Amino acid sequence: MKKVFITGALGQLGQALVELMKNKPEYQLYLTDSSPSEDGIVRRLDITQEVAVESEIASFFPDIIINCAAMTAVDLCESEQEKAYNINALGPKYIAKIADRIGAKLIHISTDYVYDGQAQTPYTEEQPVNPVSVYGRTKNEGDVFVRKYCAKSFILHTAWVYGEGKNFVKTMLRLADEGKKIRVVADQIGTPTSALELARLIIFLMETDSYGKYHATCEGSTTWYDFAHKIFELAGKRVELEPITTSEHPTPAKRPMYSVLDNKMLRQTHGYYMKDWEDAFKEYMDRMQIN
Ligand SMILES: NC(=O)c1ccc[n+]([C@@H]2O[C@H](COP(=O)([O-])OP(=O)(O)OC[C@H]3O[C@@H](n4cnc5c(N)ncnc54)[C@H](OP(=O)(O)O)[C@@H]3O)[C@@H](O)[C@H]2O)c1
Repeated sequence: MKKVFITGALGQLGQALVELMKNKPEYQLYLTDSSPSEDGIVRRLDITQEVAVESEIASFFPDIIINCAAMTAVDLCESEQEKAYNINALGPKYIAKIADRIGAKLIHISTDYVYDGQAQTPYTEEQPVNPVSVYGRTKNEGDVFVRKYCAKSFILHTAWVYGEGKNFVKTMLRLADEGKKIRVVADQIGTPTSALELARLIIFLMETDSYGKYHATCEGSTTWYDFAHKIFELAGKRVELEPITTSEHPTPAKRPMYSVLDNKMLRQTHGYYMKDWEDAFKEYMDRMQIN
């Protein structure tokens, strides 16, 4: 049996991991998030509090820690830079240090936003990072700390995640129900990634000793506009959808224009392929019974 400690357990990825691992005799789970769950199963742990992080993790003495906690509100990070740094950089540092001290493996989740989006072909793990937002910069600082402080660490760069919780899919469906015309950016390219599909990968990878940096998105690529189209097609909703450019939709945080990631390390090291984004998305819609 493996003892698994999860931060951010009430977030999209956290919930997907719990769904796959709960009630399985091979795992003993210790779940935490910034607020506790009503049923008390998820305990409160703020990852920016070093002493609490150390004592909570050391007392459970896990084999594996999965850090799903992050400040993911990309635009808010621009105006709350210190908070973003504390959660996205210092939190992972504290977790990495205690993980290393107790000999636990650490799976840390990072983002496509560490890249500047100037590429025209998928990014491989060897390519240099160059974040263009506070979110991307603070997440990258977290990655650097994890690499520095924890020998047994995996850093997984994922993108455009949807699962249980707030995400692009839910926003599109809500707007469709409001019956208004929907304008969606059509010049940013990336890969929608199912939280469940990412959770499956994490459960596979955490049993290995192949530490290091991995790109971990679904296969293929699309634009936000085409993704919106797919959402409405599978949900059977008729909406007026208009493609717009990034410059027509200014946001506080700059986004990478092209952030398709090549899961080269997963393929080469493990022969592991994540699902194509459209297949994974269909699975999600089927499960949500939106269809
Ligand atoms: N969502 C995406 O599109 C996306 C894309 C690329 C990479 N990622 C990365 O993937 C990982 C999982 O993302 P997700 O979509 O599951 O995020 P999420 O749904 O926003 O979940 C993050 C969780 O972390 C919690 N949290 C925030 N601050 C915390 C703190 N100080 N201490 C403890 N917990 C805290 C949040 O709680 P509150 O709700 O109370 O803040 C939330 O429950 C993150 O590392 C993220 O950076 C996500």
